[in-house]
Amino acid sequence: MSPRPASTARQQEVLRALGVEIWRQRARAAEQSLAGSATAAAPAAAALPEWDALRAAVRDCRRCELHRSRTQTVFGVGSQAAAWMIVGEAPGGEEDRQGEPFVGPAGQLLNEMLRAVGVGREQVFIANILKCRPPDNRDPRPEEVAACADYLAAQIRLLAPRLILAVGRIAAQNLLGQDLPVGRLRGRVHAWGAAGIPLVVTFHPAYLLRSPLEKRKAWDDLRLALSVAAPVVP
Ligand code: URA
Repeated sequence: MSPRPASTARQQEVLRALGVEIWRQRARAAEQSLAGSATAAAPAAAALPEWDALRAAVRDCRRCELHRSRTQTVFGVGSQAAAWMIVGEAPGGEEDRQGEPFVGPAGQLLNEMLRAVGVGREQVFIANILKCRPPDNRDPRPEEVAACADYLAAQIRLLAPRLILAVGRIAAQNLLGQDLPVGRLRGRVHAWGAAGIPLVVTFHPAYLLRSPLEKRKAWDDLRLALSVAAPVVP
């Protein structure tokens, strides 16, 4: 006699309605990815309750003074099944207006950099250390980074990416808890958090717009990232 299925179709339906089964499938795929299974197919992106709750918490956030000057929060954008998570510094003026990270000139270059190694913007998830724009694009203050840190950590936990690409000094230093310059942090694979998610550091595209000769090194960084985890199309 063949074994009974673990749950009936009706149970599956109820679990799916609650988002539970979708979450299990997602978590299973994430575990496989973290275990290094490059061929594990990512499930279709689903609007997970956890993502919705997190998005709402960020939208209403008043944990630091930046909520007074923002036009809107910039949660992040991309596939919730993405293998790569790209983390930048903070929204700039255009991002604050549009509510999406990396949509200004630096974002255009970031898109080109990704395309150069065969990765589409829609294949990755992009977020920032800060979800609100600092006035005049000044550097984030430590208390602002601390206020926002839980949101980014929750995004990383939910996404469970196979690779984090930290772009620029602020992202790299805060994710790694180090104060070395980008030039000293790039060129090797770090590990983020208890899960040890591989993390590669590269230059911020805004810096590359000012220093185009460094693009060669950024290319090397992206190839290093690819060697760790080639993103699969979700
Ligand atoms: N620079 C960043 O670090 N993030 C953005 O979203 C835009 C510019």
